[in-house]
Amino acid sequence: MNNVDFLKDFPILKADEKGERLVYLDSGATTQKPIKVLDAIENYYKLNNANPHRGAYKLSIDATQAYDDAREKVIKFIDAEFSKEVIFTKNATEGFNLIASSYGMNNIDEGDEIVISIAEHHSNLIPWQIVASAKKATLKYMYVNENGEIPEEEIKTKITEKTKIVSITQVSNALGTINPVKEIIDFAHSKGAIVIVDGAQSVPHMKVSVRDLDSDFLVFSGHKLLGPMGIGVVYGKKELLENMPPYIVGGDMIEYVYEQEATFAELPSRFEGGTQNVEGAVGLGAAIDYLENIGMEKIDEIEKELIGYALNEFEKLPYIKIYGPKDLNHRGGIISFDIEGVHPHDVASVFDSHKVAIRSGNHCAQPLMRYMGINATCRASFYFYNTKEDVDKLIEATKKTYEMFSKWR
Ligand SMILES: Cc1ncc(COP(=O)(O)O)c(C=O)c1O
Repeated sequence: MNNVDFLKDFPILKADEKGERLVYLDSGATTQKPIKVLDAIENYYKLNNANPHRGAYKLSIDATQAYDDAREKVIKFIDAEFSKEVIFTKNATEGFNLIASSYGMNNIDEGDEIVISIAEHHSNLIPWQIVASAKKATLKYMYVNENGEIPEEEIKTKITEKTKIVSITQVSNALGTINPVKEIIDFAHSKGAIVIVDGAQSVPHMKVSVRDLDSDFLVFSGHKLLGPMGIGVVYGKKELLENMPPYIVGGDMIEYVYEQEATFAELPSRFEGGTQNVEGAVGLGAAIDYLENIGMEKIDEIEKELIGYALNEFEKLPYIKIYGPKDLNHRGGIISFDIEGVHPHDVASVFDSHKVAIRSGNHCAQPLMRYMGINATCRASFYFYNTKEDVDKLIEATKKTYEMFSKWR
């Protein structure tokens, strides 16, 4: 594991004067930012800042160029075919709301079915509850087995001729499971349904090609991919987006406006009403450059090695329960676990005293937690900048926490 070198690029992960550094294992919530991303944002404001698409002067043209360049980087990164197919949003949550409001509300009718998995993040769940309820449609769930995986039978029985939309995460933020999205997409298409892929936990960690997947939509957030907060992406197939009404209306997304009606701009502007987060797009573009410089295959490989090592070490501790797939090939860079007899929130705060940052709670997946009969888990989520030493510190903190609480047992 030669990934120690990456640490120097991340100011927040540098060792302090005592030689101690934070073991950051919450990249599933948000990733740390490399200097290149921070510099790109600062330089944008120092050199190119103006409102894009509005001015005829050079600075505004530069800002427009910076924004368009960032879009081109996203297009290449996810292997989309046309610039029109990539829309900038605030985050993944806004992306799902856009698709549910604009596509869902206009394509779902009474009696239709929307299929999601029980492990979806609330942002890919609540929008579908609202569409289903408004349209008198049914929201159906594919349930996971004891390994946190969706059995083939669930896919084949839940997706039927009545299904119009399937919306599924590629990697579960709560369990780490990599879902067989390609198989789900092919099967859903054979039944006439469109498929939305939640790429929030996959796009930052592995090569995702919308053309290989043949996904109809893909949604992700920039901040989980080394980029800044406040920028997200919706990819949609051109023929679908072209037939969808705007979601946020106002400036910059129109063609002509009359007293009683308006016509709308071409894609992608039609879905980008108001002044956009240009520095966010620029930062995301720099993040993509940084990741591509390492290579997504390499990132995947580093994370697999870290996860394999961590799972192996956890297995030696009989008081640890691990959730999610046993098979490493079915797992992303996330380990959800419990320490017997210690509440996850207590685990997270004791870990913090050992300078190990993990997440605890329901991970915005309450229906999944209820289905599994638990309230919360501890979650360690990895990225390529984590090291073997980080795993050792995680295991050390786990042992100390268990020992500390055994006094009260
Ligand atoms: C799988 C998944 N989908 C969607 C989201 C929502 O992302 P955001 O909060 O950036 O909108 C998250 C965030 O944790 C996630 O993990």
